[in-house]
Amino acid sequence: MAWLTAELNRHIYAYHVMDAPTIPDAEYDRMFRELQDLEAAHPEAASLDSPTSRVGATPIPEFKQVTHTVPMLSLNNGFSPEDVDNFDRRVREGLGVEQVDYNGELKFDGLAVSLRYEDGVFVQAGTRGDGATGEDVTVNIRTIRAIPLRLHGDAVPSVLEVRGEVLMYKADFAKLNQRQRDAGQKEYANPRNAAAGSLRQLDSRITSSRNLSFFSYGIGALEGAAMPESHSALLDWLAALGLPVSKERAVVTGAAGLMDYFTDIGKRRAGLAYEIDGVVYKVDRIEDQRKLGFISRAPRFAMAHKFPAEEALTEVLDIGVQVGRTGAITPVARLAPVFVGGVTIENATLHNESEVRRKDIRIGDTVIVRRAGDVIPEVVAYVPERRPANVREFVMPANCPVCGSAIVRPEDEAVARCSGGWTHCSAQKKGGLMHFVSRRAIDVEGLGDQLIEQLVDKGVIQTAADLYALDQDKLCALDRMATKSAQNVLAALEKSKDTTLARFIYALGIRNVGESTAKALAQHFGNLDALLHAAAFEGGIQLLEVADVGPVVARSIAEFLTDPENAALVAQLRTHLHWKEGAHVMKPTGALAGKTFVLTGTLPTLSRDEAAALIEAAGGKVSGSVSKKTAYVVAGDDAGSKLAKAQELGIAILDEGDLQALLKSSSTEPE
Ligand code: IVH
Repeated sequence: MAWLTAELNRHIYAYHVMDAPTIPDAEYDRMFRELQDLEAAHPEAASLDSPTSRVGATPIPEFKQVTHTVPMLSLNNGFSPEDVDNFDRRVREGLGVEQVDYNGELKFDGLAVSLRYEDGVFVQAGTRGDGATGEDVTVNIRTIRAIPLRLHGDAVPSVLEVRGEVLMYKADFAKLNQRQRDAGQKEYANPRNAAAGSLRQLDSRITSSRNLSFFSYGIGALEGAAMPESHSALLDWLAALGLPVSKERAVVTGAAGLMDYFTDIGKRRAGLAYEIDGVVYKVDRIEDQRKLGFISRAPRFAMAHKFPAEEALTEVLDIGVQVGRTGAITPVARLAPVFVGGVTIENATLHNESEVRRKDIRIGDTVIVRRAGDVIPEVVAYVPERRPANVREFVMPANCPVCGSAIVRPEDEAVARCSGGWTHCSAQKKGGLMHFVSRRAIDVEGLGDQLIEQLVDKGVIQTAADLYALDQDKLCALDRMATKSAQNVLAALEKSKDTTLARFIYALGIRNVGESTAKALAQHFGNLDALLHAAAFEGGIQLLEVADVGPVVARSIAEFLTDPENAALVAQLRTHLHWKEGAHVMKPTGALAGKTFVLTGTLPTLSRDEAAALIEAAGGKVSGSVSKKTAYVVAGDDAGSKLAKAQELGIAILDEGDLQALLKSSSTEPE
């Protein structure tokens, strides 16, 4: 039993802390059941750190209280470079020194807990509560696989209180909400709420099923071991004791070092597997921390540098609709202006009608809006406690607000559409043109949305082909258009004529044809006429031969290209644009032919786009998700769930060097 306990704990650590599984799941399960059986027969011999205690226990009526012997404090917040300068200045003045080393670490967006270990064995856990007393969540914390039930090594302190944050990975959050949805249960608004809701379950078996995670960032009480001399050494020590500590930390010098760390983490934030709401700076030398001490409830030696809030509360003033380039009608919440994610938001998408019903958002509700990074703002959920009696439900209009054509919603589709088409509906016309000129399509630099609005509204252009009939006089007649800008636009249009077949297909804006399908079509057919013929032949049946093209996509392509107005546009456009036409189908050969790659994490030198382009040029395909069909996963720093999935499925994992070597050994030749 002791052997199985130690062995299973070792595998749990490898899997949940080191991200490097050591045995197949089935073998783990077999050993686990064996230990369970032995413990049932000899309960007196079960160890306190047995992994079988991680599945949760019988529900309790309420949480007991725990008192924190060393209080759990909070941090002072800062938001700007000035705040960072002031913090560093106060620290330097307080210590009477010229320069200070800091430990920069992540500000995890979860909930704080304190874990108590006695003689290396986990004995109690409490939430922060009011800082002095919290709730006893020992049984629930036990279910978190990343938290060791026994500390590693022989030299363990007699008492150690580990402080850290319980959180839920983004991928686990998505899975949990999917399960909640499938079960008709309420979804969680964000990973932090999900983590809190999952930890504070009176039935710890539910907590056990939620896959929570944990990162350590400090300690409370410590007895029977020397305190390390620096905070960074303390974190190293915690990691050596088997506790999860994020790798995203660095010792930096001065305010400039802090700002560099902040900027660097800000860039990598979206790629992290879990959410953070800023970074935390701590004076590295423990002796200096003691000298600086505390002011009211926060340390003078630390500061949280927060990112602008990504979520805020505001009121839904109305729900209108927007018409997309394919005619899709999107309900949009008109909001009381609110500052979130660094900008003021007045509109947020509600995606589609079913989504409005599912989230039950009504006019008059107070809602959580979210804007993360460059992602478009969205309404996450309404706040039930703030729903007034006179809320109104959204009604999908019968007619397009832009062109008046009927709005239709096929029974098997989630999306309602304007039936006018781009020739009748100026919203679709504008959307189509904006897509056509966008960077990944035909790429006309400097031809922005407002210019297209004006060109369409003033009737200067009707179609993408008309763009190439623009001249200086036509452009200069527009508002706010100087000669120089007009010349730039014309030069960009000229430059855009030299393109590729894949870009051209993508630029047409055919529904369901994204960049990768466009590339597959270009590669399969080699030239435009071959594609047009296939689209016109028996409802596009030949299109199904193209990898990735199923019946729905084939139908969109066939319908689009055989529509007389679209066909006329394509014919006009090809007189302006030119690309290399393949005489016959190019089939990639070489090491990468037909192989699907998944990219994850940050590679040392290549950007994601660059890596994808190299793989595709060598005949490979790049996909966004790992499945049995994936041939290779190329993993860089901060690779998260995709890497774990690849390891689970036994898929070959490459680093950038391996990829470069593989690329060298492959080539593309005509068949
Ligand atoms: S240190 C004495 N470090 O932020 C300082 N806190 O506002 C105690 N948090 O309640 C906190 N990441 O929940 C510290 N790397 C980090 C943190 C962190 C997140 C949370 C923690 C705390 C709150 C303080």
